[in-house]
Amino acid sequence: MIISITIIIYIILLIKLMIFNIKFRDFMGIYKDVKNKRDFMGIENPKEYLMAVECSCENNCMITSKEIEKSLKANDPCPQCKEPNIKKFKPLSDQFSLNDIDNDFGKCSCKKRSLDSVMVHVLKAILDLNIDIGKNTLRNGPTPLITPFYTTKNFPFIGENSLVILDDRLEKEHGKYIVENINEVKGVLKGSSHDTVGIKDSNSPAIVYELLSGCDIRCDILKSPLEPIAINKIQRLSYLEFPKSMENKIMKLCSYIKSKHYTGEKVANLKILDGTCGNGSLGIFLLKYGVKKVIFNDIWYPATVTSSINLQSNGFKTDFLSNENNYKNNSENNNFYFHNYNVHNFNKKNEIDDIKTNKINPLNYKIAEGEKFEVYNLAIENLASNLKYNHEKIDICILDCFPNVNTSKFEKIAKSVANDVWII
Ligand SMILES: C[S@@+](CC[C@H](N)C(=O)[O-])C[C@H]1O[C@@H](n2cnc3c(N)ncnc32)[C@H](O)[C@@H]1O
Ligand SMILES: [Zn+2]
Ligand SMILES: [Zn+2]
Repeated sequence: MIISITIIIYIILLIKLMIFNIKFRDFMGIYKDVKNKRDFMGIENPKEYLMAVECSCENNCMITSKEIEKSLKANDPCPQCKEPNIKKFKPLSDQFSLNDIDNDFGKCSCKKRSLDSVMVHVLKAILDLNIDIGKNTLRNGPTPLITPFYTTKNFPFIGENSLVILDDRLEKEHGKYIVENINEVKGVLKGSSHDTVGIKDSNSPAIVYELLSGCDIRCDILKSPLEPIAINKIQRLSYLEFPKSMENKIMKLCSYIKSKHYTGEKVANLKILDGTCGNGSLGIFLLKYGVKKVIFNDIWYPATVTSSINLQSNGFKTDFLSNENNYKNNSENNNFYFHNYNVHNFNKKNEIDDIKTNKINPLNYKIAEGEKFEVYNLAIENLASNLKYNHEKIDICILDCFPNVNTSKFEKIAKSVANDVWII
């Protein structure tokens, strides 16, 4: 008797759960896709998506607002940490006995090593692998990308799984060897630090780095006049820009807003377009500053997903949206997981043709939204023409373009939709 009552209660609970689940999906606008088995990147709801994108290793590499303060000390030396005397321009074999270089080389009792000691170990691995990099000096070695990374006067001392390295002379088997043998290295990317990952402007081809091994999720922590901001990145899909440079941009944006002498009420009513939002730091800062609304937009799809993730990471509740048009090319290919993002599946030409024939509906390119923001994946020229059409009034359009991009075209577009334009 008791067993059958328990079973009945269990079944009722199960049915309730199923109904709620369907409503939840419907509410998120993804039910249709789920039904058609064309769900959001193969993942049924945004939460699962966030988890899947978190990282391919098990180290929880995304940093959220709760962890920011702690992260700001992650690479500080302990009182015992000693900076080694390593000469960057002198060949490794002229400075050390190569047999002595292993995971204990330069290690402090706190288990951290200086970045230079770790890079010496990386160089030793490169020698073991017989990779010709010319002179075996640190200067000539791979580019180190620490995570979490923040501006500090201290020389960085890093622990396990805190470094991604970038080099265009490495291959898959090299990456695997380096990740397996050097405790601090969590990911190896193939590519050049001189390349700009992403799309420079509407007429440029897309560039991505290749993940050779491990996990390439990193976080830059930006100090700002308000609280620090966590900028998580899937590094192979994101251009290199260091925290100092982003912090300078935030300071300039802050001065610009202050120079307007807005009243508190005016600030609370500002509607801002972050037209080339990249990883989202400027728009996120403005939301923290207290503006009414930020419209994030970028031509590079991974940047808009990253911005959405960063909104969530910095404490803004974010709903990830899905729609057929946006993911058409990728879901047809049936392997569109963020981890395996294949840039050739994403055909920007279609979008540009659609604009010319007026077929674009910006809602089809909306990636995410929250109480005070929306995130779009469009060329700004296309978003602007739609904002104009919808008579949506923007107070300020902020534009942060890549170096060497002619901003006059962007400025003209921005002026057509916003009362003020701020270009950095
Ligand atoms: C220097 S980054 C922006 C950095 C950003 N402020 C941040 O906080 O990360 C320049 C951005 O412009 C974007 N972009 C280039 N052409 C564009 C276009 N026509 N419309 C919109 N975004 C564009 C690129 O994809 C790139 O993300
Ligand atoms: Zn990871
Ligand atoms: Zn130490």
